[in-house]
Amino acid sequence: MGKLELVLRSIRRRGLLNTVRYLSHEVGFDLKYGTDTKPEMADYVLAGQYLDNYRAPCQGANPWIVNQCFDELSRLGVQPEQSAFLDFGSGKGRVMLMALMAGFRRVIGVELDPALCKITSHNLDGNPTLFMRDQCIVCNEDATQYIPPADINVVFLYNPFGCELVRAVMLNLLLSFRASRRPIYVIYVNPVCAQVLIECGLRPVSEIAGEAKIFMIA
Ligand SMILES: C[S@@+](CC[C@H](N)C(=O)[O-])C[C@H]1O[C@@H](n2cnc3c(N)ncnc32)[C@H](O)[C@@H]1O
Repeated sequence: MGKLELVLRSIRRRGLLNTVRYLSHEVGFDLKYGTDTKPEMADYVLAGQYLDNYRAPCQGANPWIVNQCFDELSRLGVQPEQSAFLDFGSGKGRVMLMALMAGFRRVIGVELDPALCKITSHNLDGNPTLFMRDQCIVCNEDATQYIPPADINVVFLYNPFGCELVRAVMLNLLLSFRASRRPIYVIYVNPVCAQVLIECGLRPVSEIAGEAKIFMIA
């Protein structure tokens, strides 16, 4: 799909004003923070690895939408400074950077593609006062094999993979929950596999303007 077609689709879906907001945040993020979180428009396949369901362009979640999700989390009573954040499929780390700026006390990204992990590290190192490196790690791992640590209470997904992989990730999250019970919130932007979360027993608690859903495990 061409860029013009994407913009027209956005106008139809979000209206003109919200499309302007969406695009200005999309373009403005890297300009403002000197980072590289722009989309890799070309499809890529991970060198040396094959995973069913995996072949996708990497695109960071839109900062305007992510901020709305963070606002909703605060309305739900989640305090970032007492919370640990995990992005499954963290790409170039845009949402990790936003979580650091929002004040989360610990931020983890899990990303399968080593080249994207390297770009994330570069983004973090580029602005050490804004992005506190000691609070943040990027793990070059397969999300379906990763059990979230016991302090993680906010999980982020931006439509990172197909529904069967989402199910595997949710089952690992439930293992982490059972080993250490605490309320866990899952922010899911472009939630195409939302039904899988419901089947895994997560409770939908909020919907953000047709763009994202927040689920809870408690
Ligand atoms: C849509 S991008 C999301 C980027 C990031 N969450 C953000 O919003 O800034 C999805 C990412 O998931 C990664 N991914 C896909 N399958 C994965 C897997 N099995 N384990 C870890 N990462 C995976 C892709 O490489 C891609 O970077």
